Amino acid sequence: MSTKEKVVVTGFQPSGRLHIGNYLGMFKQAAAMQKEKGLKRYYFIADYHSLTQKYDPKQKSREIMEMAIDALALGIDPKKSTLFIQSHVPHHTNLAWIFNTLTPVGELERMVSYKEKVSQGQIANAGLLTYPILMAADILIYDADFVPVGEDQIQHLELTRAIARKFNQRFGKTFKEPQALLTKTPRVMSLNDPSNKMSKSIPSGCLFIFDSEAETTKKIMAAQTDSHKTIGFDPKNRPAVSNLVLIFAAFRGVSEKEIVKEFKNVGYKEFKAALAKEINSSLKPLRTRKKELMKEKSKITKLLEQNAKKMDRVASKKIEAVKSKVGLI
Ligand code: ADP
Ligand code: TRP
Repeated sequence: MSTKEKVVVTGFQPSGRLHIGNYLGMFKQAAAMQKEKGLKRYYFIADYHSLTQKYDPKQKSREIMEMAIDALALGIDPKKSTLFIQSHVPHHTNLAWIFNTLTPVGELERMVSYKEKVSQGQIANAGLLTYPILMAADILIYDADFVPVGEDQIQHLELTRAIARKFNQRFGKTFKEPQALLTKTPRVMSLNDPSNKMSKSIPSGCLFIFDSEAETTKKIMAAQTDSHKTIGFDPKNRPAVSNLVLIFAAFRGVSEKEIVKEFKNVGYKEFKAALAKEINSSLKPLRTRKKELMKEKSKITKLLEQNAKKMDRVASKKIEAVKSKVGLI
């Protein structure tokens, strides 16, 4: 921990298409951190995590490559951040093993995301249960100070901090306790059910970033509203419309108040049409960039290989220190 530079770490699973919840809740923040000086940024594709849920092995490598492309299209700049693949740096799983031996099973069974996934019918394999331990290892192995994530990951981050504390108490100060970095929209809600977060598991209420403009407009026009006649911002009593106002404000980079003021005299149809236009124009450069990046796969593969070597060097220093603390030789 000699370096004065602060470290930012985040990961994202290569399991499906990215949506505006991922963008507004996490990627925007991860990209914004690139403007700040004195930071090291380590961003990775959590491919090991993605094996905990149902998947098709024939599609996996394509999904991993596509996630790398998507991350770059969303503004992760390889000159400012190190983008890599989790499974290319085996020290993550080495450290996770040691953390496994420190974590009570009961704490894992309390994780909301685990319980949700099991209640949705996913098989409760041991990986799904111990997933937050691997996440703790992903973060702590780099002495992360900040972790950009959406609200649903906060509980996992609390567990990460608890693991760091426990290790430090038992073996002496080794790990930092990282802080979550939330955006102003840490929980974008589903377009057709404002009591659930927007998630790829409910595609109809989910606005995918790389959908076409027509699909985006169609989904926004079909989004749930309420029986009021005017636009308002009141998340408790008017969750559906407030969610749309939040999304609008986030894309335009203004406050919710300003959106309500601008649209206070128009009906929902007009408001939604303006929102769809705003989203499509904000996403246009990202969509174009993705098309360009799709032609640069070999360059991206090289980048990921180089970065794996770099991150292996960083992670191996930490794992050596950890092994020596726990008495391994
Ligand atoms: P999903 O929940 O759709 O499966 P992921 O688990 O891959 O998405 O999430 C990747 C990142 O995006 C995480 O940091 C997560 O917290 C964030 N995120 C996911 N859904 C939302 C949402 N609806 N609002 C804000 N952030 C979100
Ligand atoms: N659990 C995160 C998700 O589902 C992905 C993830 C894995 C992650 N390791 C991480 C996020 C480390 C932040 C830091 O979205």
